[in-house]
Parts: sequence; C-alpha cells; structure tokens
Amino acid sequence: MRKIRKFKKPIYVTQPYLPPLKEFVPYLKDVWDSKWLTNMGKYHQQFEKELADYLGVKHICLFANGTLALMTALQALRITGEVITTPFSFVATTHALHWNGITPVFCDIEPEYCNIDPDKIESLITPRTTAILPVHVYGNPCQVDKIQKIADTYGLKVIYDAAHAFCVRINGTSILNYGDLSILSFHATKVFTTFEGGAIICHDEKMKKRIDYLKNFGFADEVTVVGPGINAKMNEFSAALGLLQLRYIDKALEKRKKIAQLYRKKLAGIPGIRFLNDIPGVKHNYAYFPIFIDEKEYGKTRDEVYDELKKHNIYCRRYFYPLISQFSTYKGLSSASPENLPNAEKIAKEVLCLPIYAEINLSTVIKISHILKNQI
Ligand SMILES: Cc1ncc(COP(=O)(O)O)c(C=O)c1O
Repeated sequence: MRKIRKFKKPIYVTQPYLPPLKEFVPYLKDVWDSKWLTNMGKYHQQFEKELADYLGVKHICLFANGTLALMTALQALRITGEVITTPFSFVATTHALHWNGITPVFCDIEPEYCNIDPDKIESLITPRTTAILPVHVYGNPCQVDKIQKIADTYGLKVIYDAAHAFCVRINGTSILNYGDLSILSFHATKVFTTFEGGAIICHDEKMKKRIDYLKNFGFADEVTVVGPGINAKMNEFSAALGLLQLRYIDKALEKRKKIAQLYRKKLAGIPGIRFLNDIPGVKHNYAYFPIFIDEKEYGKTRDEVYDELKKHNIYCRRYFYPLISQFSTYKGLSSASPENLPNAEKIAKEVLCLPIYAEINLSTVIKISHILKNQI
C-alpha cells in the first residue's frame, strides 16, 4: 500500500467558478453610479432574457435564492393539502412545503439515480393530494414522462426542484421545460452561481406575471396588492454576475465533464464502489460526483471512508444523509417511516459525494482515487 501525503490545503466538495474580478468591476461601478440596486433593474431584466435564451426556456423569474423560488412556486399554483415528494434531497425542498402549511408525503426513490420512484407515487395519492414535488437529484433527470402521466391522470400539478439541474437537457430539450414549474438555485455551491440566487421557470406569460407580483410583495402596481407576496427579488449585483457567468459557463461545464470522466476511469473496477454513468440522450452538468459504498464488498463503511478522507484534508459530503424524513420536523409523519423508504434509507448510508469543480487539479482527482483504491 502506497503512503499518500495529506493535502496541504483543504479540498472541499465544491468551489464556485468565478469570472476574473477585473471583468466584474465595470458592472459594479455601473450599479454604484446608477444607484439602482434592486427592484427589477436593467441587469435583472437583461439577465432574465439572456438566461432564458441560454437555457432554451420561455420564461424565467429571477429570485434571491432557490428556497424562496420554491416557496413562491407553491403559492403561484395555489398548492394546498398534501404534496408527494422525495426524502432524498436538501432539506429546503420539504421546508418549502412546511412554510406553505402543506403536508409532505415522502415517496421512496429508485435505487440507481436516486430520484423519486414513479412506480411508488400512485399508492400515496389521497383526496388531499394536489401536487408532486420531485427533485432532479445530482442533476440527473427524473422519469419525467411517467411522472407527468400520473399527474395528468389524477389532476395534479408537478413542480420540479431543479436546483441541481442547471443546463441539463433530454434529447436536446431543457429539463426545465417539464412539469408546471421548475426552480433553480444559483447558490455558491451550485454549477452556476450569482453569489446567492434562484429562479422559477414557467411556460406562459400570465404565470410569469403572477410570479413576478408574488416575489415583489404581491404588488401589481403602486396601489394594487394581488395577494400575500414576499420579498424574493434578485438584486442587481447578482444579476450582473449572472450575466458575466453566462460567458464562462460552457467552459466550466466542459472542465467538470473531464473531471467526472477521470474519476470514472480511475475508480472503475474497485469492488464495493459504484458510481453513476451518463444516461443516453442526456446532456449532463456533472454538478456532483456521488459514489456508493457497499461496506461488505469494500471492507469499510461509508463513514469510515468519509473520516479517512478528512484525515487527508479532503472534505467530501454525504449528500443526502440524514434523509429529510429523519429530521425532527418530519419524522413523526407516517410516510417518514424507514420501512416505507427502503431504497432511500440504504442509499443515504452508502453515498459519498467526492470533490468536483471546474478548477480542481486533475492530480487531486488522481490522488483521491488512489486513496479509495488502496482502501486507504
Ligand atoms: C435540491 C435543492 N433544493 C433547494 C435548494 C435551496 O436553494 P438555495 O440554497 O438557493 O436556497 C438546494 C440548495 O441549496 C438544493 O440542493
């Protein structure tokens, strides 16, 4: 077994890709001089248009973050009662339901790509069910056609939490064109960042108008408030950064693809380590590089591997452990019982997301792979 030296600087699971500062300064100066800092200013308007063109979607409403976008999407469609969702996500997915007074109903996931299992949705539908809230986990598309078929049969809305799925396409079409609404996050940990930020993608002008009112306290004009809106607007600094980021995103995605390909090459054939491959017809964004550790075959538990990597100064993340259904707010729900969620329970114990970001050194990826290969 080769001795591998600890990394001098910590290697985190991700790192934001930022444009050269000198290119951002003129935008900053312009916002400064104009004194128009927020409230749908010129950068907000320009970014909405350019982003919609870039992603290949009809309408985008920019938000201060993905969580507010989710909360507002539920309001925009007047979702109430129960919503069927996944426990295998970042906790904001379910919190958005809770903040709207909606009861989450957890559905198990399929064991390969870790998305909601469409075959288990129907049995969870009750007279109180109004919508399905799936997540394109790690940016891998849910089984959108099956989900839509169920929604159409039962008259349900579909809101996709596409926080991980920036730029993902199926057979040339943006993944964001599926469902009634999709939301994005531009948090610093995401493939595409505007410091903090988010968006709702919708398919018609009327809905865009409604969402735009809701994200601005419900104001339709100076004297008309159409509903209980919130303050969820993206500011001009974030919008300006977003515009600049659009010039660099293709390069960043290309680099991520290379990192994923290198991991796959180096980790192939290690007994007890599984990773995800590309899906035919899908344009991936390589937002995450999850591996799944079978402790019997590999000889160590996921948590032992996680701790060992930490000793090497490598900070992986156990996305998503614990399951949302295990948090105190939700674990009393009947749908949260572990026996209802066998795949999610198993995967939450096996998963480890390895560092992946555009500027990670290839030599770092090789070292991490060696550590895993030598079983540390
Ligand atoms: C799946 C998922 N949904 C929602 C969010 C919330 O987005 P934000 O941090 O922009 O509020 C995140 C991550 O942050 C996420 O990973």
